[in-house]
Amino acid sequence: MFKIKEQKRVIKVYYPPYQHVAKNEQINYKKVAGDPRYPKLYEVGDDYIVLDYIEGKTFFQCLQEGIPILPEHVKQVDDALLFARNRGLNPSDIHLHNLIITKRGDVCIIDIARFSQSKPCEQWNDLKSGYYRYYHKAYFPSKLPKWLMDVVAALYRTRKGTSNHT
Ligand SMILES: Nc1ncnc2c1ncn2[C@@H]1O[C@H](COP(=O)(O)OP(=O)(O)O)[C@@H](O)[C@H]1O
Ligand SMILES: [Mg+2]
Repeated sequence: MFKIKEQKRVIKVYYPPYQHVAKNEQINYKKVAGDPRYPKLYEVGDDYIVLDYIEGKTFFQCLQEGIPILPEHVKQVDDALLFARNRGLNPSDIHLHNLIITKRGDVCIIDIARFSQSKPCEQWNDLKSGYYRYYHKAYFPSKLPKWLMDVVAALYRTRKGTSNHT
């Protein structure tokens, strides 16, 4: 992922053997085109795509830096995923690094190559349960160390048998 200076865009390059993922991701972005909760797709190549640069913080950074993730953000993710479903996609691989709270306070979802997989994915539901069960509670710390979140994510992947995505 490279930020293009002077333009508010990023270029995502897929290295071998993952070039074919570029195709999936661009097809998926075209399906959700026009929705502000997904970055706009500008250009595509065999092994790259060019997207809007979303200025903001990922949910992961929010937890790390103590920036509140509000119930309306969770609701916006739900709505955006429902929208993708209505466009024939199967939202998958929803995790803290792929959800951004923009500078304006709205949610944006990135990294949607796996939205076209057929296998069901429980990841967002699991995150949401965690949000309401723990994050919402008064005793939940305002900031979480990165190492702890990395450990939790690794344990989750081991339990669920999912691979090491970012
Ligand atoms: N359009 C974007 N605007 C801003 N930051 C982005 C954008 N796309 C990706 N990023 C940042 O780069 C990271 C990796 O991008 P991502 O598309 O998730 O690649 P990967 O498929 O390797 O996980 C994201 O977690 C996010 O921090
Ligand atoms: Mg990612």
